[in-house]
Amino acid sequence: MSKISFTIWMADTQNRVEVALAHNLPAADSIPGRLHEAMRYATLGGGKRVRPLLVFAAGELSGAPPATLGTVACAVEMIHAYSLVHDDLPCMDNDVLRRGRPTCHIEFDEATALLVGDSLQTLAFECLAGTKLADPAQQLEMIALLAHASGSRGMAGGQALDLAAVGAPLSQPELELMHALKTGALIRAAVLLGALAGQPLATEERNHLDRFAKRAGLLFQVIDDILDCTASTATLGKTAGKDEAAAKPTYVSLLGLETARHYAEELRHEALAALSIFGERATRLTQLADFICHRQF
Ligand code: IPE
Ligand code: IPE
Ligand code: MG
Ligand code: MG
Ligand code: MG
Repeated sequence: MSKISFTIWMADTQNRVEVALAHNLPAADSIPGRLHEAMRYATLGGGKRVRPLLVFAAGELSGAPPATLGTVACAVEMIHAYSLVHDDLPCMDNDVLRRGRPTCHIEFDEATALLVGDSLQTLAFECLAGTKLADPAQQLEMIALLAHASGSRGMAGGQALDLAAVGAPLSQPELELMHALKTGALIRAAVLLGALAGQPLATEERNHLDRFAKRAGLLFQVIDDILDCTASTATLGKTAGKDEAAAKPTYVSLLGLETARHYAEELRHEALAALSIFGERATRLTQLADFICHRQF
């Protein structure tokens, strides 16, 4: 499959997700209008949509119906958008720029930004639970998986470790745990949920997919760390250089830039190796791992 066709697939999937998100979010003119407007502001019209792309790519492994994948992708992206709104708050990373625009609490206000996060989180589960997506046991498993990945033993827990680690040097295993939770957990959930939306995979396939998902999740945050200190604010659409300024432990501060880059390549290879069992069926996931590793923003 050519690079062009990946580009077209990506644009087409991003577009499909944008339409589904716009449909699933409350209308901006419905009460409370300001909150709904802020939810739409934080979710629509920006972002790479990597997690939705992973949902669709993993869905190809199990023959999942596109409409189901659209709903699942919306749920995961809503959790992600909420995590960004809270991540940018003054009590967390205190950032003023996100996806090339003022952050939600700057454009609206802090209380609204808090409520946007609360509301996007619950809306994600409303989406997952609201229509029949799979057989009932499988659908319950999907809901539980996203809940676990979002909570204190997943994304929110990783954010807690991130805040606790400011100015405190971490060992590589400690940093890996923090990254695996704050970013890896939701990326892993995107992959597993996409696959769960179709026909059950064999246990061995599922184990390989899980290994891929974990390596891809860690890879994503290693690259985020690298980009924070190598790319410009204009390219990133968020403030560059914040990790060093805030004394956050990152792969770059721990290993140095060159070793962090080598580690990212190693993770990409491990992720791809885990997919070999699937052959052609994993073409999109393979391309996404390459995209995650070589992205410029
Ligand atoms: C940024 O995520 C925050 C992290 C979890 C590292 P993305 O780089 O996926 O942000 P968007 O969605 O493309 O804006
Ligand atoms: C954010 O990590 C992780 C989550 C939002 C869960 P970062 O703080 O590194 O993300 P950016 O760099 O602000 O996008
Ligand atoms: Mg952060
Ligand atoms: Mg941040
Ligand atoms: Mg970052």
